[in-house]
Amino acid sequence: MSTETENQGADDVIIRFEDVHKSFGSHRILNGLSFDVRRGGVLGIMGGSGTGKSVTLRHVIGLLTQDSGRVEVEGRNVADLSPGELQALRKRMGFVFQEGALINWLTVAENLALPLAENTSLSASEIEDRVAEKLAQVHIPDAGGKLPSEISGGMKKRVGLARALITDPDIILYDEPNAGLDPEISRSINELMREIADTHDATALVVEHRIGCIETVCDEVVFLHGGKALVHQPTDEFLRPTHPRLVEFLGPEARS
Ligand SMILES: Nc1ncnc2c1ncn2[C@@H]1O[C@H](COP(=O)(O)OP(=O)(O)O)[C@@H](O)[C@H]1O
Ligand SMILES: [Mg+2]
Repeated sequence: MSTETENQGADDVIIRFEDVHKSFGSHRILNGLSFDVRRGGVLGIMGGSGTGKSVTLRHVIGLLTQDSGRVEVEGRNVADLSPGELQALRKRMGFVFQEGALINWLTVAENLALPLAENTSLSASEIEDRVAEKLAQVHIPDAGGKLPSEISGGMKKRVGLARALITDPDIILYDEPNAGLDPEISRSINELMREIADTHDATALVVEHRIGCIETVCDEVVFLHGGKALVHQPTDEFLRPTHPRLVEFLGPEARS
């Protein structure tokens, strides 16, 4: 494949939200949300607290189903997939959620091996190699023998990233990956996420309310407001806002 074809991508949409509506009771969260994500791209989803960022992400995995509109992954409405198809789709996705959700009584290496043992036919030695490879990628090559309780919050986050990458997913979903980390460690995690974006072919969706992460990691940004995409722009444009809501949002607070 030529570089030109690889970089073209404009029509190569992997995730598409089309006029998506979602309410909980009388509480309308998504109200005509539309955007798409190009294969290999890193899209940030920003917005104030409670605007529906996590809800949006949960539609991509089929944990929530829209009231109307379409949420497509590779052209297929996730809500229309059979349980088997949904399971197959989820196996191609990696998730990084706020809480690392590591199993406390398993070592780091055992935590990483688990999805491989459950979802692949790799042999024990292949699994061992893969675990070592991913630990090296997140720059904690010696952490495999430790228990989650023996490592710092920043290291746990790195293990969480390694676990999301362990099956070489096509799509990585991050929900506030920096929550609870101090600014210095957040920065190093942001840099690691960017490194992952540069070294893997995966497409990524990054839900974040802090601009530092978006600035470092994302190619483009969707800003949720009133249940819709207020803007969908390349990150550098997004960082020079003209819309009053964005000027306000991107004030000094967003940098904290
Ligand atoms: N399963 C659910 N049932 C009822 N309300 C929900 C559910 N999930 C989210 N909500 C509500 O939807 C709104 C948006 O939630 P969320 O997407 O988590 O916000 P955020 O943008 O901070 O991630 C919140 O008011 C939340 O309470
Ligand atoms: Mg959230």
